Amino acid sequence: MTPACGERPKLLVVANRLPVSAKRTGENSWFLEMSPGGLVSGVTAQFDTKWVGWPGVDVYDEVGKNALSKALAEMKCIPVFLEEVFDQYYNGYCNGILWPILHHMGLPQDDHHDTNKTSQTQYDAYKKANRLFLDVIIDNYEEGDIVWCHDYHLMFLPQYLKEYNSKIKVGWFLHSPFPSSEVYKTLPSRSELLRSVLTADLLGFHTYDFARHFVSTCTRILGVEGTHEGIVDQGRVTRVAVFPIGIDPDRFIRTCKLPEVIQQMNELKERFSGKKVILGVDRLDMIKGIPQKYLGFEKFLEENPNWRHKVVLVQIAVPTRNGVPEYQKVKTQVHGLVGRINGRFGSVSSLPIHHLDCSVNFNYLCALYAIADVMLVTSLRDGMNLVSYEFVACQEAEKGVLVLSEFAGAGQSLGAGALLSKNRLIILGFFGTLTEPMHRRTKEMDLKLNPEVKGTLEALCNDPKTTVVVLSRTGRNILDQIF
Ligand code: F6P
Repeated sequence: MTPACGERPKLLVVANRLPVSAKRTGENSWFLEMSPGGLVSGVTAQFDTKWVGWPGVDVYDEVGKNALSKALAEMKCIPVFLEEVFDQYYNGYCNGILWPILHHMGLPQDDHHDTNKTSQTQYDAYKKANRLFLDVIIDNYEEGDIVWCHDYHLMFLPQYLKEYNSKIKVGWFLHSPFPSSEVYKTLPSRSELLRSVLTADLLGFHTYDFARHFVSTCTRILGVEGTHEGIVDQGRVTRVAVFPIGIDPDRFIRTCKLPEVIQQMNELKERFSGKKVILGVDRLDMIKGIPQKYLGFEKFLEENPNWRHKVVLVQIAVPTRNGVPEYQKVKTQVHGLVGRINGRFGSVSSLPIHHLDCSVNFNYLCALYAIADVMLVTSLRDGMNLVSYEFVACQEAEKGVLVLSEFAGAGQSLGAGALLSKNRLIILGFFGTLTEPMHRRTKEMDLKLNPEVKGTLEALCNDPKTTVVVLSRTGRNILDQIF
């Protein structure tokens, strides 16, 4: 049925993972918790929204599946059960093959991907998983609904949806970067995936660069035409546009005012009294540049003995995608570096790196953001990196410095397209916080990397209204300019 006049249109948001965490508490009972986020709060207000996705757990029995579906329905969520294909689809094709290519790392060259057989099995599982999503959508679709597909997990879904019913309005949004055509070309199934996403009506990217890479990749690989609107193929237009994701800053600001959180902040300040706190919050993913962050910090301590025991790096390294060999490797590498650096520069009473292999609860995360002197985001590539925004939102009372890799999408939105050349730092000042996201003013200064930079940075850091954003390649050699 088409929505009646005045009714909100129905939106089916389809993503690999539902915005819910599910824990089984009995044979037919589940404990569910909604994970609020930018997308969740953004779309729920405008549309009658339903979510379609994998519930984050394997369930093999029908009793469990039925009970979970029923509980999820109350939260407007519809599960797609992927058990039969999950390993090959998620660990294999999505995160072993597509993820590194989309993040400019190319096709992995290890034993897991060097046989056609392995990648064919993964590719087949990927297609099968996209079909399982389609089946669930067909069961829930009503005429007039808009279907919004998300991310690299679902690149075949637009085509499958249009084959089922060419009238369905389909959008597809990519949360990761899209690389240059030279990198994307290394993917064996490059054309099929592009052709499928082009069947959607609207394609969205976080940044202009990602959208531009996508358009030029389509023109080079498929020979279609790129225009200011998007892609034109035999008269059919697929619109391509930029929609940078944001956060709900008020949620962070409100949390920082809770008595419990203020108490946590006081405890943390006490714990690290007399020291500057550098904070890192990342999933333990190779794209986040955690080894590079540690190497940069090690170099800083090596070259600045006077800073040893006066600065601490707290790194929350959230476990992720443990079934993918590359992730296991980076974890081992990071643990080795922490041991070496703490061994070299630590003492019985003080360790330079506090590395935690876990996530922390939301209130504690806000307390950490609020008390940190420096937030170090060293992504080698990153779709957006909302941690950068979250830190700025929590820096209400303090005046910390965000050191942000220019290779994160946020480097473009925060930097309004600023460039970093070899001897030039572009420093951006936010007046207030991201509560006024569209009302920011930018201070740009042409600064040489010399002692004057230090003075200017200090002056900016001492301006209580300013949170300083420093765009940097990896954070290396930047810390001594900040302190
Ligand atoms: O940035 C891409 C993305 O898939 C996000 O959508 C997601 O929040 C994040 O990576 C974590 O991914 P996963 O669902 O694999 O844990």
